[in-house]
Amino acid sequence: MALLPILRFPDSRLHTRAAPVDVIDDTVRQLIRDMAETMYAAKGVGLAATQVDVHRRIAVIDTSEDHSALQVLINAEIIARSGECDSEEGCLSVPGVRETIRRAEWVRLRALDEHGKPFELEADGLLAVCIQHELDHLDGKVFVEYLSRLKLGRIKTRLLKQAQEDRNAATD
Ligand code: NI
Repeated sequence: MALLPILRFPDSRLHTRAAPVDVIDDTVRQLIRDMAETMYAAKGVGLAATQVDVHRRIAVIDTSEDHSALQVLINAEIIARSGECDSEEGCLSVPGVRETIRRAEWVRLRALDEHGKPFELEADGLLAVCIQHELDHLDGKVFVEYLSRLKLGRIKTRLLKQAQEDRNAATD
């Protein structure tokens, strides 16, 4: 198991569109274990492969308090959605930022599990929001890109400044 480095916005690699997974083998399963470990260590509720610079359609999600509900999504597609809800989101690639985003309230998706078995899942509430957020990552979209240009500009400036300070601290 290994903790993977997480790309930080506005890293342009976060805008890569992930390709479908063709073969679900031990390499993919190892990546999934590492992604889950990385997500738990960072206290996140979801992580897309894009965020660890692997551009394949894989995401892990666990919205439980006690890490008991790991959901692995491979080649997931939302096949139905309904309603609207506004909820506050954060992202491990956009540290320190929480913003309200409008999403579908309910989704149904089709995906493969870590053994290549197809399944369907219906979700609402936090899980539905999380699924939409992670699938956006795989399409190269970060949640703050739903915000106004002005707000997004401020967030970019703040994060670039923070990254610079972190680099300075590392070399002091
Ligand atoms: Ni995210």
